[in-house]
Amino acid sequence: MKSQLIAEIRDDGPIPFDRYMDACLYDPDGGFFSAGPLRSARTGDFVTSPEVSPWFGTLLGRWAQSASVALGQRGERGGLPLLIEVGAGSGSLLAPLIAEAGGVFGGVYVAELSSAARSGMSERHPTVDVVASLDEIPTGVDAVLVANELLDNMPVALARRTDDGWLEIGVGVEGGDLTLIEMPVREEVSAWCDDVMGDVPVGTVVTAQLAVASWISSVFDRFGRVSICLIDYGARTEELAGRDVGSLIRSYRRHQSGIDWLQHPGETDITVDVNIDGVARAIALAGHQVRVMSQAEFLVEQGIHELIESVRGDEQLFAREGKIMGQLKARSQRIEMEALVDPAGFGAFTVLLVEEGT
Ligand SMILES: C[S@@+](CC[C@H](N)C(=O)[O-])C[C@H]1O[C@@H](n2cnc3c(N)ncnc32)[C@H](O)[C@@H]1O
Repeated sequence: MKSQLIAEIRDDGPIPFDRYMDACLYDPDGGFFSAGPLRSARTGDFVTSPEVSPWFGTLLGRWAQSASVALGQRGERGGLPLLIEVGAGSGSLLAPLIAEAGGVFGGVYVAELSSAARSGMSERHPTVDVVASLDEIPTGVDAVLVANELLDNMPVALARRTDDGWLEIGVGVEGGDLTLIEMPVREEVSAWCDDVMGDVPVGTVVTAQLAVASWISSVFDRFGRVSICLIDYGARTEELAGRDVGSLIRSYRRHQSGIDWLQHPGETDITVDVNIDGVARAIALAGHQVRVMSQAEFLVEQGIHELIESVRGDEQLFAREGKIMGQLKARSQRIEMEALVDPAGFGAFTVLLVEEGT
């Protein structure tokens, strides 16, 4: 892929960063997700909340259940909504999610772009329709969507604020190798940055998440009434201010971070800390409602503390009865649940709850 990108840039000129990220992750022949093996697993390249504990799916299921009931109460449209997981990776969220909430949905879909991830998922989850894209799901129906760590993998444009407006950061070729360059800003990127990011200080580099905003709009256009739960790592505007490109973009391969993503296009994950305020503002400007909270706050609302206490009770009971295996099992369940709300880890992730404006 690298030589192909270099040839393309030599012929046609530098490419904006979102185009580079899109090719690296989703090029049909060489993209990290579209062409590679399954990535999100303990045996893959990175580990996520659903991989850490099945209770994550159970608690998300509680939210999905209440979202389904709320959709039913808000409209006179008949039929149960669809439950849709987007970017399901290994599918480890599905079993607990469906066990908790499947009964209040008219069907369950997975939309997952990676064929390696889709492979075998229908056999493992026979009640789920597994498709490559939301375009393959019936339109006009009410839907509850969940997506864990999807937004950070959606291509971003990079723009730097200058005294005279915005410049874009893209990828060019220098000395036979790929390198970051500054290039004139595209109109839509400049407009997004002006509308969404407001007056950030000169020199600030912004991750312009136009792809996330247009994906959310497409969800609202496609389905009837919609409730969306998006969970991801991200940062608020003040945390992003002053950061350079190197710290805004992350890369992972086989549980190692910091791989040089310009040297290894297609061979490493490229992800960003989601620009939480930017995305939330874009959602609000599109006329939708958005609630922002940490993963820890979200899981506490869904009752994780009560679950942890109940498992702790089992652990103590097993210990008193001398049932070592039971005690160890309960202990590891408790530790996994605690990891989901750890403020220095998954608990600090952000949850965006999106629904249509009233
Ligand atoms: C970081 S992984 C997260 C996997 C899983 N949700 C988890 O938490 O373990 C992101 C996944 O989203 C998928 N993906 C990215 N963009 C997508 C899109 N527009 N539609 C469907 N899947 C997408 C990728 O193929 C990848 O499997």
